[in-house]
Amino acid sequence: MVTVHQPVQNSTDQQHTRHRAERTNQVDVNLNDVIAAQEDIFVRRQPNSAHLAAAARQHLAGGVTSSWQITAPQPVWLSHGRGSKVYDVDGNEYVDLHGGYGAALAGHGHPAIAEAIATQVTRGTHFAQPTPNAVAVARELARRFGLPRWRFANSGTEATMDAVHLMRSITGRDLIIKIEGCYHGHHDSVQVSVAPEPEQAGPADQPNSAPSSTGIPKAITDLTLVATFNDLGSVARLLETHKDQVAGMIIEPIMMNAGIIKPEPGYLASLKTLLHQHHALLTFDEVKTGLTVGPGGVTRQEDVQPDVITLAKSLGGGVSVAAIGGTEAVMDHVATGGYEMVGTFNGNPLAMAATRAMLTEVATPDAYETIDKLSERAKTGIEQAIAASNLTAHVVTAGAKGCVVFAAEPVTSYRGFLGVDDRYSHAHWLYQHNGGVFLPPWGKIEQWLISVQHDEADIDRLIANFGVFARAAQPDR
Ligand SMILES: Cc1ncc(COP(=O)(O)O)c(C=O)c1O
Repeated sequence: MVTVHQPVQNSTDQQHTRHRAERTNQVDVNLNDVIAAQEDIFVRRQPNSAHLAAAARQHLAGGVTSSWQITAPQPVWLSHGRGSKVYDVDGNEYVDLHGGYGAALAGHGHPAIAEAIATQVTRGTHFAQPTPNAVAVARELARRFGLPRWRFANSGTEATMDAVHLMRSITGRDLIIKIEGCYHGHHDSVQVSVAPEPEQAGPADQPNSAPSSTGIPKAITDLTLVATFNDLGSVARLLETHKDQVAGMIIEPIMMNAGIIKPEPGYLASLKTLLHQHHALLTFDEVKTGLTVGPGGVTRQEDVQPDVITLAKSLGGGVSVAAIGGTEAVMDHVATGGYEMVGTFNGNPLAMAATRAMLTEVATPDAYETIDKLSERAKTGIEQAIAASNLTAHVVTAGAKGCVVFAAEPVTSYRGFLGVDDRYSHAHWLYQHNGGVFLPPWGKIEQWLISVQHDEADIDRLIANFGVFARAAQPDR
C-alpha cells in the first residue's frame, strides 16, 4: 500500500491533475499520450461513478471510505460481485483481480461463506464471549502455520499493533526494526519508511526512519529503526549499535507492498538466528501472504517459524477478521496477563463462522492446486507477450498473487523498486480496466489476486489485454 505523504486531495479531479502533472515531467511522450487516451476512455465508460463520486464528496471525506480509494482518473463505484467478477454502477463487468487489496481469495458470494454467514446471522452476530468456532479456527491455524496458540482481532493493523506491543512487553525494550518499503498497517510504530521518497530515504545501507504519515509524534517514529530487505548486515548493524535495546523485528516475509520482492535463500532463517542471538523476537507479517501464497503462508514454504505471525485480509472469506499466532513462550505471556490482548469484537461469532468455512471448505488443497495452474498460465502468457514486444518487463508470482515488474532485473529491495518507472504500471492498469479486468490500482505497488472462483477464461482475458497494452506502450524500436 502507498502512504499518503501530502494531505489527501479532497477532489478526485485534483488527484487526476496531480498524476498528470507528474507525468509531464517524463520524456517518453508516447507513453504519456497512451495513458491520456486510456484515461479518457476510462472516464467515458463510467458516468455513474463520476456522479456518485461528486455527490459523495458532500458527506464522505474525499468522496470515499478510505483514502486509498481515491485513484486516478476517478474512483470506480461498484454495484456487486459474483464469483470471479465484479460489476460497476455503470453496468460494466470486470474479472476481479483486485480482490479487495488481497482479501477476496474466496471470490464473491462463495456458497460456503454465504451459508456460514447466513446461518450465524440468525444465531446472533455478537456476544463478546468465545464461541466454539474460535477453537476450530485456532486449531486449523496451528496446523497450517505451526504456531500453537492464537488470538483474534479485526484488521491487519490491529494484528501488527498487538505483535509490536507483544515484542516490547516480553522483552521490556522499546526499539523495533522494520524493513524499508514494508507496510504493516496504519498504527504509529510501523508508519515509518513505508514508501519514502529518495530525498527522505537516507543512505541505502543505513536507511533513515522516515515518517510515512502526518499525525505521528517524532518520539515514536524514532523508536522504529529501518533495515534493508535481503541485507542481513543492515539488521546486524542496528542490533550492534543499539545493543540490548531492540525488542524485535517485523517483516513481510515476501514483500508485497512494493510489487513482489522475494527473500533470498536462507535470508529469513538467518534473520531469526541473528535476532535470537540478541534476545530479540521475530514477527512475520503474513496479513497479505498468509493464505494467498499457499495454505501455510511463507512460514511453511520457507520452513522458518517466527515467534509471532499476523494474518488478516483473505482469512475471513471477505469478512473483517485478523489473527495473531505465537510460540508457547510468547502466548504464555498473554495467557498469564503479562500483556492484555483485548478488543470488543475479537473472535466475533460472524467472523469466526466465516473464517472456519474459509479454512475448511474454501482454501482447500484442491483450490490451491487450481490457483497454481492459473498463476502459471498467467505468467507464461504475459511473458510471451513481453517477448513479442519491445517492453522491458518480467512477471513475478507467489501462489495466488502476481504482478508485472517493468524492469529488466529482479528487484531485491525497496531501492530497486524505487527506480521502476510507474507509468508503465498505470498504463497497464488502464488497459486492463478498459478491457474488463480489474487489477488493484496504485501502479507498481500492488499485485493481482487469483481467487478460488477464477477460471482459464478469466486469465486469458488478462493475457489478451496485456498483449494489446504491450503493443501500444512499447518504446519505438
Ligand atoms: C502486509 C500488511 N500488513 C498489514 C496491513 C494492514 O491491514 P489492514 O488494512 O487490514 O489494517 C496490510 C494492508 O495492506 C498489509 O499489506
